[in-house]
Amino acid sequence: MNHREDLTRRREAAHGLGGSERVRRQHDMGKLTARERVIQLLDPGSWEELGAHVTHRGQDLGDAPGDGVVTGVGLVHGRTVYVYAQDFTVLGGSLGEMHAAKIQRVQDLALRSGAPIVGLNDSGGARIQEGVDALNGYGEIFKRNTHASGVIPQITCIMGPSAGGAVYSPALTDIVVMVRGTAQMFITGPQVIEAVTGEKVSAEELGGADSQLRRSGVAHFATDDDEQALALIRELLGRLPSNNLEDPPVRAAVEPEEVDLARLVPDDPNKPYDIRTAIFGIFDGGSFLEFQRGYADNLVVGLAYLDGHPVAVVANQPRVLAGTLDINASDKLGRFVRFADAFNLPLVTLVDTPGYLPGTGQEYGGIIRHGAKVLYAYAEATVPKVTIICRKAYGGAYLAMCSRSLGADLAAAWPTAEIAVMGPEGAANIIYRRELQGADDPAAVRKKKVAEYRERFANPYVAAARGYVDTVIFPEETREFLIRSLQSLYGKRDGRPPKKHGNMPV
Ligand code: HXC
Repeated sequence: MNHREDLTRRREAAHGLGGSERVRRQHDMGKLTARERVIQLLDPGSWEELGAHVTHRGQDLGDAPGDGVVTGVGLVHGRTVYVYAQDFTVLGGSLGEMHAAKIQRVQDLALRSGAPIVGLNDSGGARIQEGVDALNGYGEIFKRNTHASGVIPQITCIMGPSAGGAVYSPALTDIVVMVRGTAQMFITGPQVIEAVTGEKVSAEELGGADSQLRRSGVAHFATDDDEQALALIRELLGRLPSNNLEDPPVRAAVEPEEVDLARLVPDDPNKPYDIRTAIFGIFDGGSFLEFQRGYADNLVVGLAYLDGHPVAVVANQPRVLAGTLDINASDKLGRFVRFADAFNLPLVTLVDTPGYLPGTGQEYGGIIRHGAKVLYAYAEATVPKVTIICRKAYGGAYLAMCSRSLGADLAAAWPTAEIAVMGPEGAANIIYRRELQGADDPAAVRKKKVAEYRERFANPYVAAARGYVDTVIFPEETREFLIRSLQSLYGKRDGRPPKKHGNMPV
């Protein structure tokens, strides 16, 4: 036998995926093949495939190149990344015993070598013919996802179907990207829902990219096609360290956008403004990459660069629900802060919130339990934490938004800051109740008392006098203040008592 010819033939067979007809169908659906996706994700020429010859042990499954998944290792921006890409052209990318073993293999290698792992999912789910072996395969993957959590970045991209329990591997990873039009995630599909509840819903409406981004908050990003998704993953990997023991890579500094920060906050404290404008005017121009945009938009979170250093930004958004914290915003914040802390991204928090959102829906939905995540995540985080109070910072929400009391290393306030137990209107009603009741013109007295309260308490100077904020700065001084603050904090060491793990409210 000619060994060279034999290996070449076997390689070609593996590279042909499920055959030209199925590859054509994949392309007709607007999807790249598994191998095309991997090549596009990685630096040119860096791909080393592992397990191309692995196949199933099933009797009646026929030819299945690579058992429906392409696995291996390569480079992104010159740094090692492990990859698996499910191949829908082979048995619908369904997950059988050996398919799962290949994924587990790269999970193990990634964790052992402290390198990120990217999963490109496009699969009919558990391979029906392999029964419990397929289920066991999922269990082994979930276990590895969990053990690797907080050690190496894990990113999943949904590029086709992802149904049933299969959705839980992506859900256990740090970042979920979904492709519009082709990606679908759900636990129970439209038919099951209709049979059980009578409710009619299309698959796209139920589990498409925009549903999972905006309604459920399961996805962090939605993209228009495979190419965009893969470019986004490269960008994300460039902003993250390879593992929890490294710092994220630094790049060249860029001047921020030209924004008149001094005039951003309206004189009328009840008038909204867009906190993103502040972000654009403070951090390196064009560098803000917002996570979960469209979900709980009363809070804005994302990664940015500050003078070339990657940072995690958390900001209340006064334009939506007046910037109140609600259940969904609390979940969004808690998860993002823990992600940032795990991967050594300093936290910059911009505060403008009148408090937690009032309402029976919020109380019955467990705002106490969910809101507690905000406090827990900030207090637990050991990365450098710097807080800027832009305007409202009232009550529990003031404390929760990375106050000094909760563990911010440095806090500054803009002159427009209002730091107090509650807002002037509510406070005046309570503390001046007697005067208001006895007044001939209660409305006029009330107006006067609100103004008095604002003058006395709703400013940054009471907090500054006690040292709860370290300094009061003009908005246009924020970038320099943050650069100097974070420079001074890069050597920060902060420990927590040894324990098995904390018990964060969930
Ligand atoms: C075996 C499967 C398969 C599966 C698809 N195929 N899903 N084979 N097990 N789970 C095969 C099909 O038989 C077909 O083979 C090929 O893949 C392509 O599938 P099509 O149906 O032709 O493609 P399409 O019309 O695009 O539909 C895709 C699909 C549909 C929506 C994913 O195939 C589907 O509904 N599959 C079943 C989904 C499911 O119920 N999976 C189990 C989920 S439960 P041929 O040879 O005809 O081309 C689960 C539990 C995990 O995953 C539990 C973890 C805890």
